[in-house]
Amino acid sequence: MILPVTSEVGQNGHLVIGGNDVLKLREKYDTPLYILDIATIRNQCRSYRENFNFSDLDVGIIYAAKAFICTAMCELIAREGLGLDVSTGGELFIALASGFPAGRIYFHGNNKSVEEIQYGLKSKVGYFMVDNFSELETLGKLCQKNNIRQKIMLRINPGIKANTHEYMQTGKIGSKFGFSLHNNVALEEVKKAGQYKNLELTGIHAHIGSQIFNLSCYDKLIEVMLKFIKEVRDKLGVSITRINIGGGLGVKYIPEEKPPKIEDLARIVYDAVRKYQKKFDVSLDKLYLEPGRSIIGNAGVTLYKVGVVKKINGVKNYILIDGGMSDNIRPMLYQAKYDAYLANRMEDCKNTEDGMKKHYSIVGKHCESGDVIIDDIKLPPVSSGDFIVVAATGAFCYALSSNYNGQPKSAVVAVEDGKSWVWIKRQTYKDLVMGDVRLYEE
Ligand SMILES: Cc1ncc(COP(=O)(O)O)c(C=O)c1O
Repeated sequence: MILPVTSEVGQNGHLVIGGNDVLKLREKYDTPLYILDIATIRNQCRSYRENFNFSDLDVGIIYAAKAFICTAMCELIAREGLGLDVSTGGELFIALASGFPAGRIYFHGNNKSVEEIQYGLKSKVGYFMVDNFSELETLGKLCQKNNIRQKIMLRINPGIKANTHEYMQTGKIGSKFGFSLHNNVALEEVKKAGQYKNLELTGIHAHIGSQIFNLSCYDKLIEVMLKFIKEVRDKLGVSITRINIGGGLGVKYIPEEKPPKIEDLARIVYDAVRKYQKKFDVSLDKLYLEPGRSIIGNAGVTLYKVGVVKKINGVKNYILIDGGMSDNIRPMLYQAKYDAYLANRMEDCKNTEDGMKKHYSIVGKHCESGDVIIDDIKLPPVSSGDFIVVAATGAFCYALSSNYNGQPKSAVVAVEDGKSWVWIKRQTYKDLVMGDVRLYEE
């Protein structure tokens, strides 16, 4: 099963996560409900730190907040000793509101406004991850004017097509992110960065995509980055000693998938660094990674109540749940696949003979035919009042959630050692009109 590490089945057949019967969680917090297992998040953070602990290569692990962010998550990440990648002023605000140390924040974003740049400077973020000429210029001038010294990394576009969904490829030729290595654009950028004396160019960054299973692209990426570092040294006499290779490690969403492990990534990355340092005669003093999905993805599940079970004879059996595309847009956005169980009848899911199971489509309550969470899944016969738990919804589900059809955002609840508490409150109907104003000004 693709469930958080603390998951088990209680004597009553209910799913238990972090020592909490999820049906009890339902009574307390209602559905739809995001449930996050703190032990799984901690495990993943520690696994990154342990597997990337090399005696001869310093590695920094930075959590990519875009996968899931709230103040509690930032607090947990701070306690686990990771850095934080934020990509907008809003994410920066959440991080700072949690008390996250600003020096461990890496400020990304491919179109930072002047206000966002000023906000980052005022907040004393550790690093600006500079995406383009205009950002470099604005940042350089502001630092000069205000006599601020700022560490930066330049995001390059390595021209590598990661083997994943095209919407999750971010480093191929023509991508909107970073400075292209073609036509010397990135080289020019390094030259330009040198003209701003208040900017300290500490390294280069690249992120080639997400939900990556074939890790050979990381070997290629490190080759491209170290080759570029050599070119910069040979042509400009500038020494760059740090690289940030982004995130991307895939996670398991459905039983057939076999994602690589963090230790596999660590081995590939370490070997590639050794190999290409030698080949290009360059040396690194630090490498960074920015995992998002692989930290939080498998820590989360979403619990739904089954409303109607609709049979269209000979065509489809629909399970209609009380959420849908407003809390999980990923199937609609990029045909993401999920697995699900009956949270109140876990034993039935396991023990019912295959021939007794039925094909179902799990669909949401929204006014779109594409509002499908799982198009085809085999489950024991399902009835109204059952509870569906969809696995691996920790990453990019709450983060991409919306109020479509006036659906209040679902609560996020954390579980650990038999306790549960709210990380993000469920929205109320009142929240839906909080920002609205009258037809005309009075
Ligand atoms: C710049 C950057 N770093 C890190 C990540 C995290 O990637 P993942 O969640 O696949 O680990 C992303 C995700 O899109 C990203 O854009």
